[in-house]
Amino acid sequence: MFSFKHEWIEKNVGLLAVATMLAISVGGLVEITPLFFIRNTVEPVDGVRPYTPLELRGRDIYQREGCYLCHSQMIRPFRDEALRYGHYSLAAESQYDHPFQWGSKRTGPDLARVGKKYSNEWHVQHLLAPRSVVPESVMPNYPWLLSTPLQYADIADRMKALREAGVPYSLTRAEYERNVKKFGPKVAEELSIPDAKENLIKQAQEGDYDGDRSNITEMDALVAYLQMLGTLVDFSKYDNDHFVKDR
Ligand code: HEC
Repeated sequence: MFSFKHEWIEKNVGLLAVATMLAISVGGLVEITPLFFIRNTVEPVDGVRPYTPLELRGRDIYQREGCYLCHSQMIRPFRDEALRYGHYSLAAESQYDHPFQWGSKRTGPDLARVGKKYSNEWHVQHLLAPRSVVPESVMPNYPWLLSTPLQYADIADRMKALREAGVPYSLTRAEYERNVKKFGPKVAEELSIPDAKENLIKQAQEGDYDGDRSNITEMDALVAYLQMLGTLVDFSKYDNDHFVKDR
């Protein structure tokens, strides 16, 4: 009796179409409806914050130069990836990236956790002439980064644009206070749009990323960006309990 019914459906194109649509609709509703009832699909993680003004300009240069064409920024949750690059990437770590830099092309290594792996001097030398530090490298030279002054006249507008996209840069006092609560006073200060220029100059001078404090170059911004990648979350908190045990 049962097999007879099945054959009957398969031989009726109309009935098969209706039954297929019904199956897909139920599956779709079960998968999609819950998404309308949660505010955020990204699990919040301690330490994750938006970029400082200088890092943000560094990220712009990273995109302008097409670094993403050879470098991904997403460590996949596989053992070989974790052994080479560290803890797999969390959704929260690219929460404030517009657009994200996950990528799928790896002519060079993944950069999601390259921050603090090398010194500033190494990065400057490597960007000027990759083959002077890694002889077999196929990465292009980027000598102009060190001689081009960083443009940051429009930094407030760039942050305002990201604010529209939901990045919590603060424009009003109330937003500033909200950031103090969420990120602490030090980070809140960095996220303040009215103070962006001042903060950018301060970070570039204190960080001394390109080895020359007398002017702020594109190299300063790019190295500041590279040096923070993957450094926001303290994985030692999680590694011992979960990650190392489970892999
Ligand atoms: C044509 C492909 C290509 C492009 C474009 C490229 N890279 Fe690379 N990159 C590589 C390769 C290959 C390596 C590995 C050899 C080496 O260290 O030079 C590398 C290595 C690196 C490393 C060292 C990573 C590590 O963990 O050792 C950094 C940092 C880096 N690139 C940054 C950049 C930045 C920033 C840009 C854009 C300004 C860029 N790359 C553009 C191919 C590329």
